[in-house]
Amino acid sequence: MIRRPIVEFAGLGVAVPDRVVTNADFEKTLETSDQWIVERTGIRERRVAGPEQTVAMLSRDASLLALAAAGLGPEDIHGIILGTASPDRLLPSTACDLQALLGAKNAFAFDVAAACPGFLFALNVAEGLVAAGQGENMLIIGAEKLSTISDPTDRSTAILFGDGAGAAIVRKATGGSGAVLSTYMKSDGRLADLLYRPGGGAVDPISDKVVAERSHFIKMAGREVFKSAVKTMAEACDKALERAGITADQVDMLVPHQANLRIIEATAKHAEIPLKKVMINVDRYGNTSSASIPLALDQGIKEGRIQPGMTLLLVTFGGGFTWASAVVKW
Ligand code: COA
Repeated sequence: MIRRPIVEFAGLGVAVPDRVVTNADFEKTLETSDQWIVERTGIRERRVAGPEQTVAMLSRDASLLALAAAGLGPEDIHGIILGTASPDRLLPSTACDLQALLGAKNAFAFDVAAACPGFLFALNVAEGLVAAGQGENMLIIGAEKLSTISDPTDRSTAILFGDGAGAAIVRKATGGSGAVLSTYMKSDGRLADLLYRPGGGAVDPISDKVVAERSHFIKMAGREVFKSAVKTMAEACDKALERAGITADQVDMLVPHQANLRIIEATAKHAEIPLKKVMINVDRYGNTSSASIPLALDQGIKEGRIQPGMTLLLVTFGGGFTWASAVVKW
C-alpha cells in the first residue's frame, strides 16, 4: 500500500500570449457568429502566439514564475516533464528545448503526449518518479500553441482552441501545503480517430498531398467527443475522490479542463458540486489543452477563490482518448 502524499505543489506559474482573438474576429473569416460560439462553447476570446513566441518560450516564462514561487532556481530541478499536443519540433522534445532555455543543467527532460490531460499525466509521472527516488524537485508543464495545428478554415475546430502555458514545481512531500492526495489516469485508444491529426507523422509523412488535404491539422468529430468527454470526466471525478477517500461534498473547488462550458456544467452536475465551486475561464482562453488546468488554478489563486488548505478536484480529458484527475490539499 502506497502512502500519500508522495508529492506536493510548491509553486505555480502561467504565461499567455498578449494577442487576443475574439469571436468577432472569426466572424470576418468564417461562417460563424459570436452568438453560436458563446451558446455552444462558452468561449468569448482566446490568446494566440505569434511566430516569435514558441511553446518552449511560453513554458520558460511560466516555469520561471513557478520556480520563484517555490524559492528554487533552475539548477534545483531534477526532472522536467512537459505535456503538449503542439510541440515546437517533432525531435527533440520541447522539454529539452525548455531545459536549455532555463539552464536546468541537473535535470532529465521529456515530453508527455497525452493531449489535454498532459499536465495531469505529467503530475502522475512526477509522483511516480519521486516515489522511485529519481529526484525530489520536478517541473511539470502543460504548454500549447494550438493555433499552429488548428485549421483556420475549419469553423468546427478553429474557434475552440487557444495558446498558453502553465508550470508547477512538484516536490517530494514535506508535510506542507499543496499535498497531492490522489492521482488517476486512463486511456482508450479505440477512440483515437474522434480527435486526431491524420497527416504529418510517420504513417503519412509531411508531403504536398498532406498539405493539400490539410490533414496535418486537427480533425474532430465534435458531437462524439462531447459525449465521451462528459462520460470520462465523470469517471475521472469519481476515481480521484475514491482514491483520496473523500466525497464530493468535501471538495472546495472543482478545477476542470476548460474545453466547453456545457461539458464543465455536466461534470459539476455529475459530481454534485455547485457551479460557485467551479473554476471557469473557458470564456477568456478557449481550450488551451494541457495548459488549461494550470491556467484555471492560477486564476483561482489570483482571484482569492483558491486558498491554502482548500481541497481541490482537478479533472481533464482529451484526444487519445485520455482522461485524468487528482485531489490536492492546496
Ligand atoms: N459556427 C457556426 N456553426 C457551426 C460552427 C461554428 N463555429 N461549427 C459547427 N457549426 C455547425 C455545424 O456545421 C452543424 O451544422 P449542420 O447541422 O448544418 O451540419 C451545426 O453547427 C451543429 O453542429 P454540431 O457539431 O452538432 O454542434 P454541437 O452542438 O455538437 O457543437 C461543438 C459543436 C464542437 C462546440 C461541440 O460538439 C463540442 O464542444 N464538442 C467537444 C469538443 C471538444 O471539447 N474538443 C476538445 C477535446 S479536448
